[in-house]
Amino acid sequence: MLVVRKKQDLQNIIQKQKQLGKKIGFVPTMGYLHEGHLSLMSACKKDSDFLVVSIFVNPLQFNDPKDFEKYPKDEQRDLQLCESIGVDLVYLPELDEIYPEGPLTTVTIKIPHLMNCLCGKSRPGHFEGVLIVLARLFHILQPDIAYFGKKDYQQFLIVREFVKELMFPIEIRGLDTVREKNGLAMSSRNSRLNPKELEAATLLFRSLKIAEEYAQKKNISIEELIEVIRDVLLSSSLIKIDYISILNPETLQPKESLKGKNFIGIAAFVGEVRLIDNHIFEVR
Ligand code: PAJ
Repeated sequence: MLVVRKKQDLQNIIQKQKQLGKKIGFVPTMGYLHEGHLSLMSACKKDSDFLVVSIFVNPLQFNDPKDFEKYPKDEQRDLQLCESIGVDLVYLPELDEIYPEGPLTTVTIKIPHLMNCLCGKSRPGHFEGVLIVLARLFHILQPDIAYFGKKDYQQFLIVREFVKELMFPIEIRGLDTVREKNGLAMSSRNSRLNPKELEAATLLFRSLKIAEEYAQKKNISIEELIEVIRDVLLSSSLIKIDYISILNPETLQPKESLKGKNFIGIAAFVGEVRLIDNHIFEVR
């Protein structure tokens, strides 16, 4: 497995692979890898001939500087995990490789119909930062295919639209959320939770499952279902709700009723750590 820190070295290697007719697969990450990341890598490996993983904690997408400073890191462990999956190359850029003029940009990419809700609303500038780093990584790497997790469902939809609108010749694929046995969505941020908070965090997925059961069995409104979810989450004093939203999963626009396909997105602080989760289901 190659470990590359410099753009120029990376581009030389990629160029050679492309000349050999190899299909480049790409999984962008911020490291502190877990089974969720590894599922993307395994799937991407099957779909490509040369698998590249990037590990870069992108300061531009953190609206909370404390969250950025506390983002967990373990380079050695990450490299071992990549090796175990059969990753061909890990790109580990320093800050000035991606942001030679500092973590600033004069360009802002907005996709209002997908960004004005959920995390786009509650974390101003977050998706704009994600798109800048992805634009730079896509240009440096020129992948043919890239994989994203639907745990960050809004990010997945935004990236798909961004690539289509700006005509990046990249196929974007999404994979379902990988969970712990108790339902907790895997996240690098889970490592910041103490045992009591870890227990409380399982309420996120539990509230989503309970919501689906309610929606299937009872004739209730969207507002009433949001109350059900709120009650489950607030049964723990460790949880503070950021948002609970029920939207159309294809458009992320509000719905009149629960009939048809529903996307429920939750963001909540468990102690100091902000976690997100979501669930999609249909009511006939
Ligand atoms: P990060 O949070 O490290 O996630 C990297 C990829 O792993 C994303 O596509 C994310 O959706 C996916 N992922 C995370 N947890 C998952 C889980 N439990 N199951 C399945 N997939 C999961 O998302 C980012 O980094 C950044 O915003 C990035 C795209 C790298 C841009 O900086």
